[in-house]
Amino acid sequence: MSSDSGTMLAWTKTKDEQNGMELIEHKIPTPGPGEVLIKTKSTSICGTDLHIWLWDDWSRDNVPLGTITGHETCGEIVEVGEGVSNQKIGDLVAIECHFACWECPRCDEGNAHVCENGEIFGVHSNGAFAPFFVCPEVNARKVPDGISPSHASVQDPLGNAIHTLTGGPIEGATVAIHGLGPIGLFAVNAAKAMGAKLVIAIDWDNKLRMEMAKELGADLVLGKDDDVIKTIFEATAGQGVDNSCEFSGSPNALSNAIKSTRMGGFVNVLSVYGQSMPQVPMNDLVFRYLHLKGINGRKMWSTWETMHDLLASRKLDIERVVTHQLNWKEFQEGMELTKSGNCGKVVLNFD
Ligand SMILES: NC(=O)c1ccc[n+]([C@@H]2O[C@H](COP(=O)([O-])OP(=O)(O)OC[C@H]3O[C@@H](n4cnc5c(N)ncnc54)[C@H](O)[C@@H]3O)[C@@H](O)[C@H]2O)c1
Ligand SMILES: [Zn+2]
Ligand SMILES: [Zn+2]
Repeated sequence: MSSDSGTMLAWTKTKDEQNGMELIEHKIPTPGPGEVLIKTKSTSICGTDLHIWLWDDWSRDNVPLGTITGHETCGEIVEVGEGVSNQKIGDLVAIECHFACWECPRCDEGNAHVCENGEIFGVHSNGAFAPFFVCPEVNARKVPDGISPSHASVQDPLGNAIHTLTGGPIEGATVAIHGLGPIGLFAVNAAKAMGAKLVIAIDWDNKLRMEMAKELGADLVLGKDDDVIKTIFEATAGQGVDNSCEFSGSPNALSNAIKSTRMGGFVNVLSVYGQSMPQVPMNDLVFRYLHLKGINGRKMWSTWETMHDLLASRKLDIERVVTHQLNWKEFQEGMELTKSGNCGKVVLNFD
């Protein structure tokens, strides 16, 4: 097919205000050299999309007005640009939303997810709350057989969860997951699938998500009424967990994570904090000899490979985490649902 003269409607950040998103007409993009055109199958709603919807300071600084948002997506390749050699029309692909230059020192050393010249699809440039989009061919990752198109879009947050977990030991290890949003829930599920000996899942007060964590395999689920640090020590013979992962965005949870990780253990932080200088118990970090690591995106491509192995082995329960599937025109309902927290992952389907 040719995308030449067609138009499409797409959810676009048009106004400098909260929400400020409209379904407006755009030209269907044409794939440039090295790019592919993708017909969207599903795009899931990320916390980042909610930040953009809420139009906080970070969004104002990063998202140009007029941008089509949405970055957690999958679809079918319908056209390839000049020089594209590794993609086939008709393939179902999911998108790695960090677009890298592949030439800078970070890309050279294998850290393309933090490329010096990188940009994020659906944040800095047009994304996938739209029926068509273009992306560099390397960012289109073939979906393993048997994964339904309505579930394939969640590989971005699932990959975040796996990247965070792999910052520390998993197989045979004790793991704590702080914050049971969609990414924390994926992490609970992946930690069990990757052979963790004990998975402790902690939220504040979201009963729905705490219940889901149990169903996804958590051995112990804690909330605001529990003494989190004391209970983690009790559950680990007084040592603390090997691997703490922080997905809540709460400084209180970060502090709990540091204080309940075993001597010489690992604290991996994916969260973005509302306050840029959360209080951190530094002396605990030092005296416990902890490895504290910030996590961003997904490793290209080792996180994707680990994830594809897990998906192919059918050890993950994506279906349970995806609590809501809406039509893409119901974008505003999806954002309200995400804002409410009464959900796991919310996916918008295009057909
Ligand atoms: N670094 C990256 O590349 C990247 C990518 C995606 C998301 N993120 C960040 O990862 C985090 C997780 O995303 P999400 O969409 O799953 O989050 P979410 O906001 O949907 O969920 C956060 C959960 O944490 C719980 N919580 C709040 N306070 C808590 C506390 N004190 N202890 C334990 N739990 C608590 C909430 O009840 C909620 O269920 C967010 O901070 C998000 O901004 C980072
Ligand atoms: Zn995302
Ligand atoms: Zn680079």
